[in-house]
Amino acid sequence: MEQKQQFVSIDLNILRIDILKPFDIYLKTDGGRQQYVLYSKKGSYFTNKIKQTLLLNKVNTIYVSEDNRDLYQEYVEDNLHYIIKDNSIAPDQKSKIVYDSSKYLMEKLFENPRSSMFARTKKTVNNIVRLILSDTETTSSLIRISEYDYYTYTHSVNVGIFSVAFARELLKGISEQTFYELGLGFFLHDIGKSRIPVEILNKKGPLNEDEWNFMKKHPEIGYKILEDTGYIKKESATIVLQHHERVNGSGYPKGLQGDEIHLFGKICSLADTFDAMTTRRSYQKAYSAFEACNVIKDKMIQKEFDRDFFSKFIRLFTPGDVNPG
Ligand SMILES: [Fe+2]
Ligand SMILES: [Fe+2]
Repeated sequence: MEQKQQFVSIDLNILRIDILKPFDIYLKTDGGRQQYVLYSKKGSYFTNKIKQTLLLNKVNTIYVSEDNRDLYQEYVEDNLHYIIKDNSIAPDQKSKIVYDSSKYLMEKLFENPRSSMFARTKKTVNNIVRLILSDTETTSSLIRISEYDYYTYTHSVNVGIFSVAFARELLKGISEQTFYELGLGFFLHDIGKSRIPVEILNKKGPLNEDEWNFMKKHPEIGYKILEDTGYIKKESATIVLQHHERVNGSGYPKGLQGDEIHLFGKICSLADTFDAMTTRRSYQKAYSAFEACNVIKDKMIQKEFDRDFFSKFIRLFTPGDVNPG
């Protein structure tokens, strides 16, 4: 029976020493027919002795069953602050933990955008912002591992990470607290899509006029959702409202132009466009980062985006490869 369950592999280093572990952990047996064997039950402490025994037996990866996944996720969120600071975890491992955890959280939030999920999101986004502001190596890794298959939740994480990293380069001298506020706006920029019917959201192929008009409401819907939660400051909510505005006035919902668009809205719109171009959809191939930068440079710069912005943005992805011209 047990073997029909799905298991998620996790790095042993995620488990904190002498902290209660609210989920069961399994080990995978060797041999042709691999099986998962219960190793330690939920509600027990993970000790250094257990860790050393596993390492002595060359076990670096442990497994959590899918039905314990939520418990594991909450554990990671609660301990993310420590995981981020832990020097024994390599940057590539750390970025994967942070990426997977925020992706899972965003997926749950979009399924059910209720108050407790916003509180969890705020805590996790604060941790990711802290990481991006302090750890360049892990941030580079986070940017590299952003996933190419498009889902609203992966897109939200990608745009959140790109925008915060971009804002770090662009905005000097703003407080860490402001970055936390901004980060929330970036990660939640498409939260209005949680109220768009899935038939429209996941439609294969282009939308008809009515569907498109509905879709174009998501910035205002998102703004309203965030206003109602009270978890976000007005400037951050502005990101949500303005992320489809363009400097030449061709965007929506208001057709704002130039500096009518808030700086934070401009940051998000560039990251949003870039991620939309570099992810795969049923009707669209994914551009490489290099190709996307060139398309933005050739077709959109000066019309839809500011040149200064763009030249700083591309350095996140293609250092030295593209001349903004
Ligand atoms: Fe959007
Ligand atoms: Fe978006």
